[in-house]
Amino acid sequence: MPGFELLGREEEKQILDVLSRGVLFRYEFQKERRGVYKVRQFEQKFAAHHGAKYGLAVSSGSAALKVALAGLGVGPGDEVVVPGFTFVASWEAVLDAGATPVFAEIDDTLNLDPKLIEQKIGPRTRAVICVHMLGAPARIDKIARLCRQSGVPLIEDTAQAAGGTFKGKGLGTFGTCGTFSFDSVKTVTTGEGGLVITNDQDLHVTASEYHDHGHDHAPVGRGNEGRRFFGFNFRMMELQGALGLAQLKKLPRMLRIQRQNKAALKEGLAGIKGLRFRRVPDTAGDTATFLSWFMPDAGRAAAMNQALAKRGAGAVHWQANTWHAFPCWEHLHAGATPIASGWPYKRGRERLKYRPDDLPQTAHWLGRCLSWPIGLKMPKKRLTQMVEAAHEAAAEVE
Ligand SMILES: Cc1ncc(COP(=O)(O)O)c(C=O)c1O
Repeated sequence: MPGFELLGREEEKQILDVLSRGVLFRYEFQKERRGVYKVRQFEQKFAAHHGAKYGLAVSSGSAALKVALAGLGVGPGDEVVVPGFTFVASWEAVLDAGATPVFAEIDDTLNLDPKLIEQKIGPRTRAVICVHMLGAPARIDKIARLCRQSGVPLIEDTAQAAGGTFKGKGLGTFGTCGTFSFDSVKTVTTGEGGLVITNDQDLHVTASEYHDHGHDHAPVGRGNEGRRFFGFNFRMMELQGALGLAQLKKLPRMLRIQRQNKAALKEGLAGIKGLRFRRVPDTAGDTATFLSWFMPDAGRAAAMNQALAKRGAGAVHWQANTWHAFPCWEHLHAGATPIASGWPYKRGRERLKYRPDDLPQTAHWLGRCLSWPIGLKMPKKRLTQMVEAAHEAAAEVE
């Protein structure tokens, strides 16, 4: 998770530039800012880097999902298809919009299984959220085609895969829009932050207004602007935009180093009996933030991880991960909410119900899967030690 590993002089220079002008707000202050709009520049550069026409910077990756859903008009009565392996934000945003998350299975790509999406699409489906988990592309060509054929907008939650591609095309540009996160552990980090990219001008304008209390951003002075509808505050501030500009420049270098480190680990593990790597539909477009592999069964995955941990090379066993794995989202299954009326699970007479065993295929793949996060500062010695630990751990659990 490299962004923070490379914080340095470039970020410092950018931040000082903002402070020297004394303008933290992304809008207004024309005189003081002397022509410099950090957030605007960042969103334009980030969108262009990924091959999209429009970019809207927001306060987080979760906000990006909220803003994208609002931009698409998703709300109560609507259903949104979401994978059972993702960070909770992907479905929290749907619940918070008053819509209903419909969970779908993943396959050995650790992303949505295109074969099983269709059966989740019904008359109330208003969007599919495809998440490019752990930095690697989903089978996004197939998924985008399916959504087009069904007339359902596709949101690519690209929070974990900034800079990733599929067959040379930027992730986040296959569907109606792509959302990104720049939180403190992401490849490009602004501490907190997010972005929505799209080629759809109407969606961009609606999202832009919604993310700023409905302001239409006409050049008449902020207090005189009009509004078409209500919104909220999901704005990014200039300090974050400045950090984003410095970090975006480093993205190609970060991906290069990450890919080298991942390749070294993968090569080292290649001969291990019973170990099978995660299927990555286009390895050239993988951002390489994780190396993931499957053991023959969940028991052996757990045992291998214990043996790895003993050797200082513990992995993530997703089946036990309470933030990313459907079977572990006990608050979702319980319908737990701080809202006294029981919303968003209880809506009038309707009550949303999810059970931990609703997604057996997802549980199967997550049970067998172990992942190592890939960093930028992984000396050769550390890589060698991890590979040795894996060979010893695998031998121990055979
Ligand atoms: C897949 C996914 N979507 C959305 C988010 C939310 O991003 P943020 O933490 O910036 O709100 C994350 C954060 O980890 C994520 O991994």
